Amino acid sequence: MSAAPASTLQVGDGGAGIPRHVAIIMDGNGRWAKARHLPRVAGHRKGAEAVRATIRAAGELGIEVLTLYAFSSENWRRPEEEVADLKGLLRHYLLAELDELAANGIRLRVIGDYSRFGPELTRMLEDAVARTAQNQSTTLVIALNYGSQGEIVRAAQALAEEVRAGTIDPASIDTAAIEARLDTADLPALDLLIRTSGEHRLSNFLLWQAAYAELLFVDTLWPDFGRDELFAAVADYGRRNRRFGGL
Ligand code: FPP
Repeated sequence: MSAAPASTLQVGDGGAGIPRHVAIIMDGNGRWAKARHLPRVAGHRKGAEAVRATIRAAGELGIEVLTLYAFSSENWRRPEEEVADLKGLLRHYLLAELDELAANGIRLRVIGDYSRFGPELTRMLEDAVARTAQNQSTTLVIALNYGSQGEIVRAAQALAEEVRAGTIDPASIDTAAIEARLDTADLPALDLLIRTSGEHRLSNFLLWQAAYAELLFVDTLWPDFGRDELFAAVADYGRRNRRFGGL
């Protein structure tokens, strides 16, 4: 894909404009490494560089929220060594990037049950979220040990508890009541969901939130994704006509 220059990306020209909330299923790190006869971790390392470039580009484009699927609740099925590599990369990323994220006004959020990554990473993540909480530019949401079905189950359990406690009437439960109990509560609606590496699946990512999102599947492997690819994705989104079930 070639990049669309920023000047061609205009809001309010009859298309969908700039998406407020973009989410990415970052896929293809392993294949990128395999094609180069490198260990899988080399693909994840290069993938972390792509994360950096993509966050910067999101800021340039004025995207309010960028949600990245860094580790799914199913990724624990990978070999122990790869899980350890991914944890190590996340730790390294937080140590190396937090100052820059904070200096650039980026607000960090985490969705998913990140406590399973252990006390040290949990503390680092919570410190990073607290340190950047007042920032006003792009919100970076990292999905860690996240699975959408589990998230919806937790929302249903929370509502069931409230019904049992008598604080909510079952008849009053509507979509807003469920949304308010998802990990993404108080984030703007998802506008654009991108998956890299030519796979056409949602893999248990933001299933509820994607109800009216525009979907974009690109062949680029995640480590090759960056500024040009995000600009091209946003340009593609900008040409779409969103109808939300209307005409
Ligand atoms: C999918 O590629 C990628 C992942 C499961 C991990 C994503 C992690 C990163 C991009 C690095 C760290 C992230 C942050 C936020 C610092 P795959 O391994 O499934 O690739 P394959 O399908 O080609 O095997």
